[in-house]
Amino acid sequence: MTTKGIILAGGSGTRLHPLTAAFSKQLQPVYDKPMIYYPLSTLMMAGIREVLIISTPQDTPVFERLLGDGSRFGISLSYAIQDEPRGIADAFRVGQDFIGTSPVCLILGDNVFYGKLDFLRNALTSNVGATVFGYTVTDPHRYGVVELDAAGNVVSIEEKPQQPRSNLAIPGLYVYSNDVVDIASSLAPGRRGELEITDVHRAYMERGALHVHPLGRGIAWLDTGTPESLLDASTFIHAIEKRQGLKIGCLEEVALNQGFLTIDTFRESVRKLPQSDYRAYCESLIAMQ
Ligand code: DAU
Repeated sequence: MTTKGIILAGGSGTRLHPLTAAFSKQLQPVYDKPMIYYPLSTLMMAGIREVLIISTPQDTPVFERLLGDGSRFGISLSYAIQDEPRGIADAFRVGQDFIGTSPVCLILGDNVFYGKLDFLRNALTSNVGATVFGYTVTDPHRYGVVELDAAGNVVSIEEKPQQPRSNLAIPGLYVYSNDVVDIASSLAPGRRGELEITDVHRAYMERGALHVHPLGRGIAWLDTGTPESLLDASTFIHAIEKRQGLKIGCLEEVALNQGFLTIDTFRESVRKLPQSDYRAYCESLIAMQ
């Protein structure tokens, strides 16, 4: 059964105030695109074509105006409102009808990945239970942290521990079997008063069904949680785009490469773009066909 995608793009975004006073974090620019373009492109590059975007009552209409029904990217986008920031695991309650009986891949709308996405494609085809990833960082106390034994089995998993047992952070990109809906609905709020994604993972761990794949050095996982890390993410995207002359997270291009758009439907989508560097880039791709 094909996996459905969810982008969680709500929350209060207070850490970026006053940037986020008027509109949400996931709409902020990361160099030349709104932040949500990057996680959406990640799902698309992994082959996911049915995506639900969950956000706040104020911001959901803005995302809808930005991305529409997805047809111009050859995908199907739908929207749901999370009326209060009840926690990341609340996405499975809000998204229950959308998920139906399918497996699901959840990505946080503020997580930016760059690199070869085979790790995600493999997880989508092989996952039974939950698959999460591990990424070595210097500041694990800011994240969900996982500890593995020498054989790669999960020993512990903790949310923002004061004394992390490892430097392996869990990025906001998760792959689940359909039973995540039941697991999430049976959770009680944690000490922050939220439905914690780490508690979902602990439930899978207790069933022996939590798989953790450490990501190697070839993948960049960028944080956008503070003004400085947001600037670092923009600088990173800018440096690669300038060097290669290729865009990262250009949704029309990803759709063309994935075969979600034909060259004719791609041309149609590009024709509707306003005159901009972004449009000129897309037009250059038509010329190369
Ligand atoms: O970025 C990876 C980390 O994301 C993981 O390592 C952590 O285990 C996970 O808890 C999460 O940590 P954060 O501190 O980044 O969580 P935060 O509460 O900031 O929420 C992450 C994103 O999800 C944020 O962009 C807002 C959105 N969100 C969050 C909550 C709690 C919602 O849309 N609704 C919510 O109710």
